[in-house]
Amino acid sequence: MSRKIIIDCDPGQDDAVALLLAFASPEVDVLGIATVGGNVPLALTHRNARMMCDLAGCDVPVFAGCDKPMQRVLRTAEYIHGETGIDGIDVFEPKAPLQPQHGVDFIIETLLAADDSSVTLVPTGPLTNIGTVIDREPAVLPKIERIVLMGGAMREGGNRTPSAEFNILVDPEAADIVFRCGRPITQMGLDVTHQVLSTKDRVERIRALDNPVADATAGMLGFFERYDMSKYSAPGAPLHDPCTVAWLIKPELFTGKDCNVAIETRSDLTLGHTAVDFWHVTDRPKNVHWVYEVDSGGFYDLLTERLATYGETA
Ligand code: BDR
Ligand code: CA
Repeated sequence: MSRKIIIDCDPGQDDAVALLLAFASPEVDVLGIATVGGNVPLALTHRNARMMCDLAGCDVPVFAGCDKPMQRVLRTAEYIHGETGIDGIDVFEPKAPLQPQHGVDFIIETLLAADDSSVTLVPTGPLTNIGTVIDREPAVLPKIERIVLMGGAMREGGNRTPSAEFNILVDPEAADIVFRCGRPITQMGLDVTHQVLSTKDRVERIRALDNPVADATAGMLGFFERYDMSKYSAPGAPLHDPCTVAWLIKPELFTGKDCNVAIETRSDLTLGHTAVDFWHVTDRPKNVHWVYEVDSGGFYDLLTERLATYGETA
């Protein structure tokens, strides 16, 4: 049976690949896509999500959510993703329409109409939309089966500040609401996403599939690699966001542990830090399934296999 999901994202090349992986995977049924200001401003994140719908030939509705964090000024990341957010492919004006409803209202309405524990939220950007949903309408909480998110770091340290990962840093107050919401959370932090490197061989395998979606993926990864390869002296860039969707499709690729994770919202120095109680040294509740290891070869096999299906239907 396929799992009902809502993807909440800020494309971003890696968010875009997460969408393409989800669209090609019968294990998940994407009810809608909400977008948020993050890697690039909101007007670009919803345009980029709609471009992915066009490329994939799918009619999942796309909604624009919050354009800035709950209490802060938006920080963006063009220095990684390029001015368009998805540099590496030719940008076009998508045919897929932007839905008139606000993304937060879409999520609230969808959850309120759903059975208990029946919809999984998949946030791959700053948690502004989800934090706002929970803050505005706590009655949605029992409807959420699980939240599978990309954000945070423990052993890897931060990627935007020494202590903080980008998605959590951009809206720590929203993250705090989400991490204290009481619903099950699976967290893909940098400790695991830094293991799925888009090496040359892996990107070339995708390009060799020779279908338009695989070509677009290879193009985006080619651009996305530049920044992280030079920053980390690594043979490829971490493909962060698709880890969420891959976990939903094939959880056996991943290893994790139930822990408490709390968000730093007050310190100037460590704002947005995810305090992961990996060794259970506090009695704080285990609110998160913290994923820390992945079979990276298996992950790229899965991604490549699913991207190949676009050639079959073209
Ligand atoms: C996260 O930040 C963004 O740059 C990526 O899209 C990913 O969601 C990694 O820190
Ligand atoms: Ca993202």
